[in-house]
Amino acid sequence: MDLHNIREDYKFDSLLEANLLENPFDQFKDWFETYQLLRLKDANAMAIATVDANNLPHNRIVLLKEVREQGFVFFTNYASDKGQQLLHNPNISALFFWREQERQVRITGTVSKLDNKDNTSYFSTRPYLSQIGAAASQQSQEIEDRIALEAKFEAFQQQHPEGSDVPKPESWGGFLITPQSFEFWQGRSGRLHDRIIYSPEGQGWKTKRLQP
Ligand SMILES: Cc1cc2nc3c(=O)[nH]c(=O)nc-3n(C[C@H](O)[C@H](O)[C@H](O)COP(=O)(O)O)c2cc1C
Repeated sequence: MDLHNIREDYKFDSLLEANLLENPFDQFKDWFETYQLLRLKDANAMAIATVDANNLPHNRIVLLKEVREQGFVFFTNYASDKGQQLLHNPNISALFFWREQERQVRITGTVSKLDNKDNTSYFSTRPYLSQIGAAASQQSQEIEDRIALEAKFEAFQQQHPEGSDVPKPESWGGFLITPQSFEFWQGRSGRLHDRIIYSPEGQGWKTKRLQP
């Protein structure tokens, strides 16, 4: 398969120092809100990379559920591969790719677990089948086949019929990513893309431009 002839030029917008917002969270919200206006499926999807005990990187998509003043929240199973990797090594990279606007945002940082109150209150707002799915799945563990998975799901449904309170599994909860740096990438014509890095300085943030 030869993909050499796939070429794109990027013309949607520019990211110039004169228009940068001082705080990268504001810059993120500005771009994210613009992207959300397109009403695309999974606009809040981000790839998160973690590192295992053998220093091997792993990457997968999760959904951004909240942007707080201190960071970015996603939910998962603490006992999953990613959960275990993060509890062992809290370094994380999160990546958003907003194709239609020719934008990429890269965040590096560290994670901490959300407290149980936050986890329980968010779990209770999830749709019934998502609650059952989360409760019935030991995420990242092997299971013999699809039939066994569905049987587990149905057993949970019988135990906790719709309308009853589905208890949050002990191991299910959120991580808060506290960013240490942000990169905002805006595709430009002729491969002269804009790349702006934010890193902490004093109480605020400083920016620099990287070559594309
Ligand atoms: C669009 C999309 C959204 C997803 N959202 C989540 C999520 O919010 N939390 C989660 O744990 N897994 C989510 N997943 C599944 C993960 O990508 C992954 O398969 C799962 O978390 C197991 O990863 P692990 O074995 O590395 O822990 C999502 C997958 C896709 C494609």
